[in-house]
Amino acid sequence: MIKKYLFTFFLVAVISSSLQGSQITNDLFLQNIQNRDSQTLDGLWSIIIDPLENGYYNHRYQPKEDGYFIDRQMKHPSDLIEYNFDSDYQIMVPGDWNTQMEKLYYYEGTIWYKRNFNHHLVNGENTYLYFGAVNYHSIVYLNGEKIGEHIGGYTPFYFDVTGKLKEKDNLIVVKVDNKRLREAVPTVNTDWWNYGGITRSVSIINVPKTHIYDYKIQLDNNDLQKITGWIKLKNSNLKDEVSIKIPELNIDETYQADHRGIVEFEIKANPEYWSTKNPKLYDVILSSNNNPINDQIGFRTIETKGAKILLNGEEIFLKGISIHEESPFKTGRVTSKEEAQILLQWALDLGSNFVRLAHYPHNEYMVREAEKMGLLVWSEIPVYWTVLFENADTYINAERQLNEMIARDKNRAAVVLWSIANETPEGEARLNFLKKLASKAREMDNTRLITAALDTQTRREGVNHIEDPFGEFVDVIGINSYCGWYGGTPTSCSKIKWESEYNKPVIMSEFGAGALQGNHGNDIDRWTEEYQDAVYINNIEMLKNIEFLAGTSPWILMDFRSPRRHLRKIQADFNRKGLISEQGVRKKAFFTLMEYYKTIEN
Ligand code: GCU
Repeated sequence: MIKKYLFTFFLVAVISSSLQGSQITNDLFLQNIQNRDSQTLDGLWSIIIDPLENGYYNHRYQPKEDGYFIDRQMKHPSDLIEYNFDSDYQIMVPGDWNTQMEKLYYYEGTIWYKRNFNHHLVNGENTYLYFGAVNYHSIVYLNGEKIGEHIGGYTPFYFDVTGKLKEKDNLIVVKVDNKRLREAVPTVNTDWWNYGGITRSVSIINVPKTHIYDYKIQLDNNDLQKITGWIKLKNSNLKDEVSIKIPELNIDETYQADHRGIVEFEIKANPEYWSTKNPKLYDVILSSNNNPINDQIGFRTIETKGAKILLNGEEIFLKGISIHEESPFKTGRVTSKEEAQILLQWALDLGSNFVRLAHYPHNEYMVREAEKMGLLVWSEIPVYWTVLFENADTYINAERQLNEMIARDKNRAAVVLWSIANETPEGEARLNFLKKLASKAREMDNTRLITAALDTQTRREGVNHIEDPFGEFVDVIGINSYCGWYGGTPTSCSKIKWESEYNKPVIMSEFGAGALQGNHGNDIDRWTEEYQDAVYINNIEMLKNIEFLAGTSPWILMDFRSPRRHLRKIQADFNRKGLISEQGVRKKAFFTLMEYYKTIEN
């Protein structure tokens, strides 16, 4: 195993050393699903609710050979079969199960999903079975055979199923278990609903045997008139050629793949930069053996200079808002482009140029639509609060989710910040865990900024000091601070001063207060819109006095479901810090933040 690892390491070392500025990621990833030839498996799936995992273990707690994954059919009226998908419940894929069936509202455990499908077999094609995300632990069976499993509730994964599909009546069964685990990422305590299930789309991806598998294309960090990157072919043969066309830039280049099936390129070009004011995307057509794959790519640079963030070399203040992937109106997980567009349009209505997609990688619609709408993106893995920093498997899990997040969105110009943690308590194990994760993030992608949201600032003589040792290892420091809600009165906030140990940009990544939309009173009455508004008014005054502040993403755009929020008549399982109710009604503070953002030029 070590030998294999060393070889892999050597191979990657050789590749990455020769690809400065556009490293090849350690783990290659099937790129750009949205624009590939695919067969959707979305729709109604049959389910079996199995809290004791009876479909997986026998009564001696041993894995069964004939578990529910074989979908055994009765052959004789005397057969004893104690399950039947086809006469059981059905729910929609994609979608969480909690909001689809009343009896599953609080359910945490195993649910078996099953569907049958036909597939048009094409001679010589390769096929992948692709999941946008499944929360949390999934085991996937195809035609009765286990083809793999995945841990992590918010990132895509897939399996090569070439040669495993039939023309008629394929059977796919997925065991999904959303039980929270102490050693998991996130761990057992979070402030969001543990929506379980196949929460994002499932599809069969059809590609020719030799196909463009992964690629990274972007503006060179060090030369703004150069587009650079790499393309990786799978099952390539010597002499395979790859072409890159960007018609609007009169680019039409052809390269020969090397023995690794990789093409590295640098192309002189003078593109219009992607920016929040001009979210310019170029049609890019990659092709190999006359099999084109299209993508829409923006070219921009992002960097820091002292306490400033520079987009395309110009200082920008990130006028943001935090967003959970909670669907407006219907609630539950976002499952469509339209829901994503609603949330992002609300952010634009606020006057935002930036969204913090908390606390886990959102579905690809959110990222691609943000890119089209000119919204910069902070994308985050759920290393949240008190994950088990001492546990090696927890680190491996976090790193894999980091890799999957970066691999999927590495070509998205809007994504400028990779966040690797939220509100983790200081300590040696945590510092080592996060340092390793931060350097891994840079190794995977040294073209974006690394950040984390910290709530470890210390208060001395009326001044808040940013001195968390982890601040040394990020490019941008996120600060979560709830003056006027978890401490102090709303009016006490405007006078608070901040100091930072680090000459780095700081984003006030969370501040806010709860209010039940439509509940009115005085600005000292908790849960009224007036109280929430007073918190915003005074925190905004505080922000104006932080000279190293490069942006903010107040908590939060829309009320979201959380199992920690029990005040029945006010919260009713919702965290009420939204500026908009889950029914889309804006609260007073929405307009206060909007007015503040109007005063900021860029
Ligand atoms: C924390 C945390 C959020 C949480 C918020 C709150 O800062 O990062 O996930 O929802 O506070 O208490 O509302």
